[in-house]
Amino acid sequence: MHPPSRRLFLQSSSLLLAGGYARTLLGADAAEKPAFASEPSFDPTALFCTWQQDPTTTMTVQWIGEQGDADSRPIWFAKSGTDAWRQQPFASKGFPMTAKRVFRSELTGLEPDTDYRFRVGLDSAEFKFRTMPAKATRTLQFVSGGDAGIGTHTMATNKLAAVQQPDFVVIGGDIAYENGRNPGIFYTFMKYYSRDLRDPEGRLIPLLGCLGNHEVDGSYGKSRKEAPFFYAMFDGLYPETGYASLDFGDYMSLVFLDTDHTSPIAGEQTDWLEKTLKEREERDNLFVFNHVPAYPSFRAYDSETGEGTGGGNRKHWVPLFERYNVDAVFEHHDHTYKRTHPLMGGHKSDNGIVYLGDGSWGRLRSPKSPEERPYLAMVDEAYHLSVHRIEGAERFHVALSDTGQVVDVCSTTKRAHKRG
Ligand SMILES: [Fe+2]
Ligand SMILES: [Fe+2]
Repeated sequence: MHPPSRRLFLQSSSLLLAGGYARTLLGADAAEKPAFASEPSFDPTALFCTWQQDPTTTMTVQWIGEQGDADSRPIWFAKSGTDAWRQQPFASKGFPMTAKRVFRSELTGLEPDTDYRFRVGLDSAEFKFRTMPAKATRTLQFVSGGDAGIGTHTMATNKLAAVQQPDFVVIGGDIAYENGRNPGIFYTFMKYYSRDLRDPEGRLIPLLGCLGNHEVDGSYGKSRKEAPFFYAMFDGLYPETGYASLDFGDYMSLVFLDTDHTSPIAGEQTDWLEKTLKEREERDNLFVFNHVPAYPSFRAYDSETGEGTGGGNRKHWVPLFERYNVDAVFEHHDHTYKRTHPLMGGHKSDNGIVYLGDGSWGRLRSPKSPEERPYLAMVDEAYHLSVHRIEGAERFHVALSDTGQVVDVCSTTKRAHKRG
């Protein structure tokens, strides 16, 4: 009799036709370790990690390629330092407007805060990732930004992000600037991300995306089919709508909103937001990401009429952020660096919410001054990313320019819980 892991290994082998694997089964020692190629000869293009469920116990691995390349290549994965290899096939769907496919395999039942290694088939190089911890018992660090594209500044910011060794990256919309129409631009962004976003230990740094106007052919008021590349890549997290939440155990929740690109702000999305925030108002860390800012640093702001940029956010969402104890809101779209004062109802308040932005990973404009916009505490005209470091009850938010200079530092702690 074989031990259970051996039985599973043999059963699952029927999924495979690869010659190298067959040799292992027939070989004299029939070791449990699959017959990985000694030199990698297959390179899964645009390989990256993301999440669609709890990052403490799951990881989703994706790449873009030809169906023929995937047919005999499941993902093989094992905890680092072990040879307890398991395999799982990739599901696939079309990469829009091309003959290519997007391949996805969600690994579940993983151990928290654990390094894993994996391969795509038997003949790829070995890759690595790490799951998030079950509790916030170590320092957590993630990077956010938006408005990236595929230019030289984007690549510089990519590399700066990687050396921060973040647990993950969030790009809050206007990811590739393909406008829902140009597969080559989206493909190039994903190839750059895959190449650049590996930490100094060689781990793939997971990417979470949020919808912006440049993901959508028509920018605003459209349907999911006008944002074909975003949804081809991220519909694991966004299976039906342009908004979603992601819970990291019981210590952190991220809420991603759709600023009227494929989901109207008012109505169903706002109803969902209220329910989602209410269920999470006691979380130690509750962060919201949206593309178009409630408190713009470049575009028009009209506090009299509530119209202009971010008017819908301010009318429908900001009262919910305040009521349900959101800790910080990450905004984008205006292509500057900005930090607002802690705000309640648009005014400075000791118990207010800080809005950080405004999306200049790879695009840049000149911001308005704090004199012109009193809600702004700090602005800069700098390509930037933000590093968010969570150490127990304290959170540090550090903005770095694309040359690595510190643009701004602030800290936040859990807001006192006051119902508005
Ligand atoms: Fe943008
Ligand atoms: Fe935008």
